[in-house]
Amino acid sequence: MASETIYSGLIATSTSLTQINIFNGFITVEDGKINRIGTTSEFHKLHQLYRSNGYNIVQLRPGQFLMPGLVDCHTHAPQFPNIGLGLDRPLLEWLDKYTFPLEKKYSDTQFAAAVYDKVVRRLLNNGTTTACYFGSLSLQGTLELVQSVIAHRQRALVGKVSMNLHNDAGYYNTTETEIKEVEIFVRKVLEAKNDLVQPAITPRFAVSCDEELMTNLSKIAQKYDCLIQSHISENKGEIQYVLETNPDSQSYSEVYDKSNILNNKCIMAHAVHLSSQEMALLSRRGVSVAHCAASNTRLMSGLCPLRRILASGINVGLGTDVSGGDSASILDAMRRAMDVSQHLQLQGEADAAISWREAFYLATLGGAKALSLADKIGSFEVGKEFDALLINVYKDGGPIDCHDYSVDTTETEVGESMLQKLIYLGDDRNIEKVYIKGVEVKHSL
Ligand code: GUN
Ligand code: ZN
Repeated sequence: MASETIYSGLIATSTSLTQINIFNGFITVEDGKINRIGTTSEFHKLHQLYRSNGYNIVQLRPGQFLMPGLVDCHTHAPQFPNIGLGLDRPLLEWLDKYTFPLEKKYSDTQFAAAVYDKVVRRLLNNGTTTACYFGSLSLQGTLELVQSVIAHRQRALVGKVSMNLHNDAGYYNTTETEIKEVEIFVRKVLEAKNDLVQPAITPRFAVSCDEELMTNLSKIAQKYDCLIQSHISENKGEIQYVLETNPDSQSYSEVYDKSNILNNKCIMAHAVHLSSQEMALLSRRGVSVAHCAASNTRLMSGLCPLRRILASGINVGLGTDVSGGDSASILDAMRRAMDVSQHLQLQGEADAAISWREAFYLATLGGAKALSLADKIGSFEVGKEFDALLINVYKDGGPIDCHDYSVDTTETEVGESMLQKLIYLGDDRNIEKVYIKGVEVKHSL
């Protein structure tokens, strides 16, 4: 019996920052991988053959289309119980008062397992097929996150958070413990031999980690070829603190560069206040940025100059950054990124606004590139794995208003109207099915 499935109907995929390919056609998927993409007329020719070979054919209806799965390049799984709390305080105060005390609880593995199960299901329900997660300081607690991700078949990078500098909550380890536990964590994730899940090395930020720890973490990342994730230049108070405590460095980026963590398998969240020289350094090193517009606004960190970051040649993906961010949805992250960039343009920064096409790219192919996964996911191409969403814009009780698609004269116009509506108005109700490596994974909450 053939294991091949054929999806036929309207398909939308980014090909570059500004280009989207929208067409009526088909995609065939075998063992989780895309092995053929074609037009509707090719599909009609092959239809009988596919049927007689017992292939599973999924025929999309009007109002439905397929798009690549959404990529969340930065979120904090343990912070979900705090969504919407304490957002009237600036970053460092908010971390001390709300975030660290909550994250400390994740050494309780039962508590961790219960929260993480809900987090992973919530993200899948919102169409996030790939997530790059910060766990907590707890090794065992973060292994629970790995278990939840594996159980629900989400594609993910998961990091045990590293911190060795003092904070009032007493939420840090000694350097020795950190180095030992991070290596144990990496080995345990690799031993699970799950092709969807990878460990990520996760120095929290230069306020919580010193050069000795970060240099050692960089060696572990190199030894196991892991992605490194951290935060950079989010808030002015944070930057001032980092520069005061690292007087030998001229910039925040230089602190990380001295610790050898800036490379082409490194993703930094925020980058709100980088100088042009710092952007050039990150670009030279191949570092990617997770743009977290919701969090930057809620914590009053600043308006991130996304267009300038893109123009400096840095790969960018989107992050929800819960619970600095107040939404777990990458559809929401697209809108927040458009809003912030539009505000910068309204304030006089020429060409700052990003379009819905660019937002779509950042949420899919851009995110995949930023996480070094673009050889596998992010767009529909033969040889890539089938991480996809089946969208339905006609959802009773859903947020998308009625639109008369018959006014659009070409199939591309119909597709563009539907995709725009999804990006500006859509939510989880419009995400009818979620596929990861060819397997349907959307659960009801
Ligand atoms: N910087 C260091 N840790 C954090 C965190 O948990 N959230 C945000 N938004 N910024 C950080
Ligand atoms: Zn963060």
